[in-house]
Amino acid sequence: MKRIAICNGKGGVGKTTAARHLIYSAIERGLRTLAVDLDPQASLSKSLLFQQLTVEQQIHTGSTALSWSQLDVPDVDRQASAHLLYQKSAPLTPMAIAPHAALIGATPELSDVLTWPIETAFTARSALQNMNGKYDICIIDTPPTMSNLVLGALICSQYIVMPTDLNIDSMSGLLDTSLKIDLVRREWNQHLELVGVLLNKVNPRRADDLSMRTTVRNAFGDAVLQTELQDRAGVRHTSFRPVWKHQRGESDRRAAAEMRAVCASIFEKIGL
Ligand SMILES: Nc1ncnc2c1ncn2[C@@H]1O[C@H](COP(=O)(O)OP(=O)(O)OP(=O)(O)O)[C@@H](O)[C@H]1O
Ligand SMILES: [Mg+2]
Repeated sequence: MKRIAICNGKGGVGKTTAARHLIYSAIERGLRTLAVDLDPQASLSKSLLFQQLTVEQQIHTGSTALSWSQLDVPDVDRQASAHLLYQKSAPLTPMAIAPHAALIGATPELSDVLTWPIETAFTARSALQNMNGKYDICIIDTPPTMSNLVLGALICSQYIVMPTDLNIDSMSGLLDTSLKIDLVRREWNQHLELVGVLLNKVNPRRADDLSMRTTVRNAFGDAVLQTELQDRAGVRHTSFRPVWKHQRGESDRRAAAEMRAVCASIFEKIGL
């Protein structure tokens, strides 16, 4: 099972969007897929559980709802809570989200992990390694604030993808995360491999975006993925379904094609 963390110390840059599409893409490729939500905000868990609900009940998605609670999204099973990863011999059972895919989800208890020693991440890594035979890929979403949840994800993973937008504020997140990757490699996980920096929400008509894109490519070189995602309305509502499932016009079609290309390039880089 290949374990891949989606990580950047800046909020709102597209971590969960990228994680979710990699999960959908893995499922569509027939890979046995494990989704792990290490963000106490639980956006990935809610979105995947809502997806499963709409597929099972064949209802149309409610993009007019104000919050997840209005959409009767099921809770994460107690035994599928991500905090159990960090506890030795805990009875952890990932919950099904599709025929060959399961979720270890975020529950309120996940916040407790923030105060546990970093060494508990080794318990989490062993727990995931014990699932090696059951899944082909494990995709881990992480919170924006640097904590031992994020470090834990880097300790548990073989690969990391760093999505970023092109705002100046996001660059500090990118640089901080790079330093943390170095730290994790040095101290705990020498095999951690950067799959790539994923440029997201790019607007090629904005001169600032183009010059920042050049700056990032100069700073990170080949580590920046060639495929990138433009800022597109079609991506904004993908909490309810993958972007390629809802294409109303040319911009949506391009958004879908870009997302498929990004997922394909990441799978290729990790040998899947
Ligand atoms: N390419 C894109 N075009 C337009 N909107 C996007 C794009 N990528 C992401 N978004 C939107 O930006 C917002 C933040 O995305 P997302 O939740 O994936 O970021 P995040 O890094 O996981 O945030 P957080 O740090 O809060 O967990 C969401 O509303 C999402 O739909
Ligand atoms: Mg997120």
